[in-house]
Amino acid sequence: MSDDKHGKIIGASRSRIDGPKKLRGDAPYAADHHLPNMAYAYGVFSTVANGRITGIDVSEARTLPGVIDIFHHDHFPNLYRTPSTFAQENKVDETRLPFEDAKVHYPGQFVALVVADTFSNARDAAYRVRVDYEEDEPVATLAQAMESGEPTPHAASGHTRGDPDSAWNDAPHRIESTYITPMETHNPMEMHASTAYWDKGDLVLYEASQGVVFARNVMAKVFGIPPERVDVRSPFIGSGFGSKLWIWPHAVAAAAAAREVGRPVQLVVPREEMFTTTGHRPPTHQTLRLATDANGKLQALSHDGINTTSMVNTYIEKTGSCTKSLYACPNLRVSHATLPANHGTPTSMRAPGAAPGLFALESAMDEMAESIDMDPLEFRRANYTETDESLDLPFSSIHLMEAFDRGAEKFGWSKRTPEPGSMRDGDEIIGWGMAACNWEALKMDCDARVSLRADGTAFASCATQDIGTGTYTIVAQAVSDITGLPLERIEVELGDSSYPSGPVSGGSWATATTLPAIAQAARNAIDALKTYATGDGGAFSGSEADTLTFADGTLSDGNGKSVDYAEVLNQLKLANADGEAHTPAATNDEYSFRSFGAHFVEIRWDPGISNLRVSRVVSAIDVGQVINQTTAANQVEGAIAMGIGMALFENTEYDSRSGRPVNNNYAEYLVPVHADQPEEVDVILLDHPDYAFNEFGARGIGEIGITGLAAAVANAVYHATGKRIRELPITLDKLM
Ligand code: MOS
Repeated sequence: MSDDKHGKIIGASRSRIDGPKKLRGDAPYAADHHLPNMAYAYGVFSTVANGRITGIDVSEARTLPGVIDIFHHDHFPNLYRTPSTFAQENKVDETRLPFEDAKVHYPGQFVALVVADTFSNARDAAYRVRVDYEEDEPVATLAQAMESGEPTPHAASGHTRGDPDSAWNDAPHRIESTYITPMETHNPMEMHASTAYWDKGDLVLYEASQGVVFARNVMAKVFGIPPERVDVRSPFIGSGFGSKLWIWPHAVAAAAAAREVGRPVQLVVPREEMFTTTGHRPPTHQTLRLATDANGKLQALSHDGINTTSMVNTYIEKTGSCTKSLYACPNLRVSHATLPANHGTPTSMRAPGAAPGLFALESAMDEMAESIDMDPLEFRRANYTETDESLDLPFSSIHLMEAFDRGAEKFGWSKRTPEPGSMRDGDEIIGWGMAACNWEALKMDCDARVSLRADGTAFASCATQDIGTGTYTIVAQAVSDITGLPLERIEVELGDSSYPSGPVSGGSWATATTLPAIAQAARNAIDALKTYATGDGGAFSGSEADTLTFADGTLSDGNGKSVDYAEVLNQLKLANADGEAHTPAATNDEYSFRSFGAHFVEIRWDPGISNLRVSRVVSAIDVGQVINQTTAANQVEGAIAMGIGMALFENTEYDSRSGRPVNNNYAEYLVPVHADQPEEVDVILLDHPDYAFNEFGARGIGEIGITGLAAAVANAVYHATGKRIRELPITLDKLM
């Protein structure tokens, strides 16, 4: 949508400008850097879940060809921990350093690191490092964690208004249900990898990272050097889904090894250890109580969530983060508590908190609607609010009703018959379910630089990343919007911590955070150009800078004189006109900034052959201004695929006796393949700019698509089968 603030390039459909580089193989990923004299590191990973190392025998491994050194807790440099806080931009998930001591807290923990001249020599030697352990009983599953002790409450992450318990007790209509979601593992195509080298005391780290600025600051703290002496580079990454937001032990181990052996070192985390030592979405146990009055208005809502965390860090999966403000309800509580388990530290996974949280809330909404004989969509409409009741602030922009209307219309919701099992097509029973989706909109501090160059091109840089989502392209669109230059004449560089400080590519922050800084930097570059042009020897010498206008790459004075900006610069023998800008974080003083939407899902269940599939999805999404129709729709389509995985397949399992992961590989950890995709995925982007949030009116789109999707599937499964599945994934055994 074009509008009065911005031109048609904002909201256009454009292919990714980095696409050709990726097709040609000109886009180097972290493990694609093969530096002169580089050595390769391979980890030795704990085979026990809990205990301590009693001995490490490297004698055989040490004699193998090419082995340079073998590090472990008795042979590793002293490093420093970072205080893991957001404010100081030094966030890590696992504060414990690799090889800190002989303790083992989870299976897959690094217990040694072999450095050799080739990858295969390093791996070969790693397999021959003998480690002896003293083993203790593991806490391997959510069920075991719940048996082992009382959860630790985290009051600061909760919210209470009114008196939800009394209101629930007194209400005429009420339900109580408990929902369980399993551990899930991020499975980006590109594996976690670090390529590190030291140059006269400065660290250069090619890291598969969603956040180069955080990574630089953390590495500086860990090695006790100033951040200026660290450069983290991540120009291309094969996605991350949250697992690459913060530094994990492998990056620290690789950088330390490189310093010790005096050579560049590359370390790739094997796929099976990407299930253990680089984060996961923790399993959750969520109890919901809903109560309504006679008209279907919510009177009480409580959502109490528990998740497992690691033995060394507390990670809270904030399952109630959407519940506190999605619907109007005077008496409400959300609470979060954790229990330790012998797992690596959990971390954000696409829509952390919201994805498992809305599975529970939107399943419970369906149960509540059914118990009061109301259509599930009408029930949600009845509890619609334009006020964030947890903050007592209006939403800056909310079009949830339009999402309901347009989604329902496209899907054909009005033809739904409410009775479970009542819709059939031959051997298949059809189920129709829906759910709302919801995600917070955040905008962080950001710096950016834009240069207008004498060769007629523009250059933009920011230390944010493009994780495959299209950030390069939308940054170029923002520069094009301000300068009028076509995308072909705009070069964008991201993913280097030496560039102006930018946000992580996570939390759906990057678009709303980066684009205003880029636009302001472009305006500042134009101002610099005008100053040059009106100065001595300039094309408009003697004119006032503020009387000039800049459009489509040309400066004009309003009296008929127009000069191309490249000519202005060349005349003065200037290489470029530069602009830098800083734009501040958004604060919710006046508004609550959130995105909304609705999923409508059709499933087909063939009881004769026990076949369950998702056949149709219509999603109407309200994320403010869409910057690029193509890349935005791709984000939602990908999130729907991932949501189908969450609903039907994904489950990282641990053996309750040994504490070891059972299915930490691509064969047994199931994700949806093409054959599991619906015949029809329809993404409706509502595209209403939210100018209270930022000048582009964009709120970000990476996560919202997965929220609510699993509930919509579960609600559709109930509608087809009459079976209410409250524990994900919805495997066939649960339907028989
Ligand atoms: Mo996302 S879980 O913030 O990468």
